[in-house]
Amino acid sequence: MKIIVTGGAGFIGSNFIFYLRKKYPDYRIVCIDKLTYAGNLHTLKGILNSENFRFVKADICDRKAVDPLFAEERPDIVVNFAAESHVDRSIENPEIFLQTNIIGTAVLMDACREYGIKRFHQVSTDEVYGDLPLDRPDLFFTERTPPHTSSPYSSSKASADLLALAYHRTYQLPVTISRCSNNYGPYQFPEKLIPLMIVNALNDKPLPVYGEGINVRDWLYVEDHCKAIDMIIHNGKDGEVYNVGGHNEMRNMDIVKLICKELGKPESLIEHVTDRKGHDMRYAIDPAKIHAELGWLPDTKFENGIKTTINWYINNKNWWESILNGAYRNY
Ligand code: NAD
Ligand code: DAU
Repeated sequence: MKIIVTGGAGFIGSNFIFYLRKKYPDYRIVCIDKLTYAGNLHTLKGILNSENFRFVKADICDRKAVDPLFAEERPDIVVNFAAESHVDRSIENPEIFLQTNIIGTAVLMDACREYGIKRFHQVSTDEVYGDLPLDRPDLFFTERTPPHTSSPYSSSKASADLLALAYHRTYQLPVTISRCSNNYGPYQFPEKLIPLMIVNALNDKPLPVYGEGINVRDWLYVEDHCKAIDMIIHNGKDGEVYNVGGHNEMRNMDIVKLICKELGKPESLIEHVTDRKGHDMRYAIDPAKIHAELGWLPDTKFENGIKTTINWYINNKNWWESILNGAYRNY
């Protein structure tokens, strides 16, 4: 089996490559990544020169780079993680989000049409559903919840989803889509809530909480997301969307306080800062479909996953320090 993984130098993509390598040592994995600020080749150093692995620095929007690579590699499966992924950056500058997240997905799917594949999997997000009110804990996102986006980021992801479903209907491209809740774990870029708070707390720096910190996110350990994608690419049905989440809703402030407690740092480091524009209140996934159809259930409980994650950042200071001082760009 030959798999192209795009965005494999980022957080979830790299964890997915490690997951595949361990479970299917015979698969050939080709990673395409543009190495934007969020891509870190150092993350892949243990696998870079290994057999059955190839890294290609390329932009998924660049047909001249993508098409010949597909012609040469003839992949069976393509898993598209490559994206601009940070909501705050999309609010500052939407355009690159539209380019990479929408056009990049179209370029990949065109190559899939041209060279024939068994599966194109689009890694999407629960943010395409917009948000839920805090006073309705009975409500969850299902696959039938209509897209209702809040940020340029989520709008670009929803656009890519619609395009993927259109390619399935129009060209019978064997597409699947997963919409996962917030991930946490090793190798997450320290701009996202959990790694930012861990790294700042370790450096005794302020912990910036947007607004009152009452927004709720539904946290999933990254390996459980990888497991879901593995099940979908092998056993999912063409043209289907699968929600992925582990029923683990937490308020931002509770997460930040927990990180302070685990690291033995004072809560006085917490600073309330200006709220994110259009800030989604609550995300909550109903994962009943992927459980019923593919047997997926998460393995990692939050209380264990967060400890593993905090310990990883404590033990891999060189990984995030090279990001803070910019040295990772030279790897
Ligand atoms: P990330 O920002 O850590 O990594 C993105 C990777 O894509 C980087 O390696 C970057 O270099 C690469 N990339 C960006 N633009 C590219 C381009 N034009 N061509 C090739 N490579 C490019 O992101 P992440 O958090 O690992 O998210 C991966 C995917 O999962 C995204 O599609 C995101 O929307 C989705 N997702 C993320 C979460 C989460 O909690 N992080 C949850 C659900 C879904
Ligand atoms: O739900 C899935 C999504 O989760 C993914 O699609 C996105 O790619 C991923 O970035 C993530 O989006 P969020 O906006 O939920 O994640 P972020 O880590 O940026 O923020 C989580 C919450 O914490 C959110 O309510 C904003 C808040 N926050 C974030 C940062 C960076 C703070 O209060 N302070 C901060 O400094």
